[in-house]
Amino acid sequence: MRTRWTTPRLAAALLAGGLTAGVASAQDASALQVRSWAATCANCHGTDGKSVALDSGLLGLAGLDKAYIVDQLNAFRDGKRPATVMHQLTKGYTPQQLDAIAGYFAAQKK
Ligand code: HEC
Repeated sequence: MRTRWTTPRLAAALLAGGLTAGVASAQDASALQVRSWAATCANCHGTDGKSVALDSGLLGLAGLDKAYIVDQLNAFRDGKRPATVMHQLTKGYTPQQLDAIAGYFAAQKK
């Protein structure tokens, strides 16, 4: 009755392999997700937060302190910091998403 043992073992091995692959791609997917959130800021803050034209008045976000970015985003969201557009934009994200986006920009080189 070898097959009665082999089949579940094979199934377990396949399942374990599948789960491992699932975890790896879930991490990739969440990094990709944060990157695509951050990409929505590129029009005004430059690709990866790198403002290209120094005299354009655009605010580069790359390499800013994460805590500073989080504070600004929450202040915009809560209406504590006056804004022309950021108060509207930040309402489209949860605080967790804003935290992740801030981490993304803080990790970019200036
Ligand atoms: C439509 C253009 C536009 C987009 C898109 C945009 N911003 Fe802004 N951002 C601004 C403007 C303009 C300001 C200055 C405050 C204001 O008037 O709203 C600003 C200010 C900021 C500041 C404050 C910077 C400082 O030095 O204090 C942060 C942080 C910021 N934005 C983050 C983001 C993030 C993160 C995103 C993407 C989720 C984003 N912005 C998308 C236009 C934009």
